Amino acid sequence: MCSIIGYIGKCMAASVIVESLKKMEYRGYDSVGIATLERDRILLRKDVGKVMDVDSSLQLNNMPGQIGIGHTRWATHGGITKLNAHPHTDCTNNVVVVHNGIIDNYQQLKDTLIKQGHIFKSQTDSEVIAHLIETYLKKFDDVKKVIIETCKQLCGSYAFVAIFKSGLIAGTRLDEPLIIGMGNDGNFISSDVLGFLEYTDKAIFLDNHDIVILDHQHVNLFDFNGNSVSRPITQVAWELGDIDKGKYAHYTIKEIHQQKNSIPMAFQIDPISLQKAVDLVSSSKNIFITGSGTSYHSALLAKYLFYKSAKIRTEIIMSSEFEYMSAPIDENSVLIAISQSGETADVLNSVKIAKEHKAKILSIVNISTSSLARLSDHYVSINCGPEMGVAATKSFTAQLATLYSIINNLCVNERSVDMSINMFGNALNEILIDDSYLEKIAEDIKSVQDIYILGKSFHYPIALEGSLKIKELAYIHAEGIAAGEIKHGPLAMIELNTIVIVLNPEDETYYDTLHSIHEMKSRGAKIIGISNKNNDMYDYFIKLPLVNKILYPIIEIIPIQILSYYLALKKDANPDYPRNLAKSVTVK
Ligand code: F6R
Repeated sequence: MCSIIGYIGKCMAASVIVESLKKMEYRGYDSVGIATLERDRILLRKDVGKVMDVDSSLQLNNMPGQIGIGHTRWATHGGITKLNAHPHTDCTNNVVVVHNGIIDNYQQLKDTLIKQGHIFKSQTDSEVIAHLIETYLKKFDDVKKVIIETCKQLCGSYAFVAIFKSGLIAGTRLDEPLIIGMGNDGNFISSDVLGFLEYTDKAIFLDNHDIVILDHQHVNLFDFNGNSVSRPITQVAWELGDIDKGKYAHYTIKEIHQQKNSIPMAFQIDPISLQKAVDLVSSSKNIFITGSGTSYHSALLAKYLFYKSAKIRTEIIMSSEFEYMSAPIDENSVLIAISQSGETADVLNSVKIAKEHKAKILSIVNISTSSLARLSDHYVSINCGPEMGVAATKSFTAQLATLYSIINNLCVNERSVDMSINMFGNALNEILIDDSYLEKIAEDIKSVQDIYILGKSFHYPIALEGSLKIKELAYIHAEGIAAGEIKHGPLAMIELNTIVIVLNPEDETYYDTLHSIHEMKSRGAKIIGISNKNNDMYDYFIKLPLVNKILYPIIEIIPIQILSYYLALKKDANPDYPRNLAKSVTVK
């Protein structure tokens, strides 16, 4: 698909842009072009061919100017010709534009613009953007207003970036990615982080209808009403590929739905890597597991699995508490460090301490270039692709799948279970086929102050993780409780209509959890049951498909993730960027 890159800074823009376009080559393209602004002249060179070839024939690299845009085109409207290659200019050469996407109504717009006297040089849909900008530049001297008015005319999908003779770069997007890279020697605007990852790992992922205006000093963001908006700066540390929301409104719900594929994928560990992990664990006398937040919940679940399935005792230590535990960690120990980002400061600190005590480090990470992976004796990748939503969703289930695989390989034969790609059958599809019931529950309970989640045995870590999702996405106080513990205190909190979610699939915990449900129901609680089997006690019943009992924890978190997402929407919270949180917590 098309790649866009823009640069404004201290370096010669064209040489930066040529390198960036090469980095985005994997997207596929048929022609290449670059425009730069030198004093008040817009310079333009473009042609059909590969970046390297066009660069050597047209000397793209040598174009003067510290402001520039570049594009590799993958033809949609108009053949593969030099004239159809981007960038496109208006009639006056006051503006030059690169575009990714498709302008559905370009023909009507083009007809109207031609009637007004505009002269088109290409057959592309994209060129209308340059001429629309030209029209509005005659009416308004505010670039932001010009972009807003231009976009009001466009139907379709787009990310476009324009250079204005005044020395500004502006861009906007709708259903096509556009990302800002904030570097020391200049700022970037690109359709892909790979466009600037070599220069900076600080990125702002623009939302639909965000407008960005870059000058030499500033990155200014606006919404379509012209009001300033702010977006979080994300530290990019992954080999990114798939960073678009696709058909989804938010990354979070996209990533929840991606679990249909990411869970089975996570079970497909490279056998050599898996064996190394198994060897590291089985050759160690003491096994410690650490992680933060969601990754800590994976560690807690691993404790149950290690013990129940492999009969191996482990010690779980929250990473932020690690340095305060005088654990007997030594050269006979392995520390299993779990982290999606591989950059969490508390986790890295635990690893540092463990290494000082000569323990071995096995890490379970999503980002194989991360600091954690690099510090480890061995790492296993959870292989779920980039997770853009701040709340961990698909990375949690992928961590569990990875841990299941390792633990399964430590079992003596009769206790190991089938971990083949088909073990979930149709279960993941069944859970993810329709969110409407969970959305309805979210509507019904959105105003409550507290939600309690109960689970016993290895459902307890899922109760903790579920409550973390509700807290961070919907800003509702939520608490995960081991079902048997309610009579030891939490029951005092139960009154009429208190919401209690119970994880109660039919396994050896079923009847004990049911007793706890009775105790709460008789005190007025409203029960949301998550189980394969309905019960009169449930005010709402979320049906889990039947799977091997050992797999329930992996699938029973999914409805709570979806519920949390809809609670966030009902409460007008942005699920992708929960307040006060960051994806990668690199401070202790
Ligand atoms: C919760 C969440 C955080 C992270 C925690 C650890 O949804 O995202 O609690 O799980 O900050 O992050 P990683 O796994 O990157 O070490």
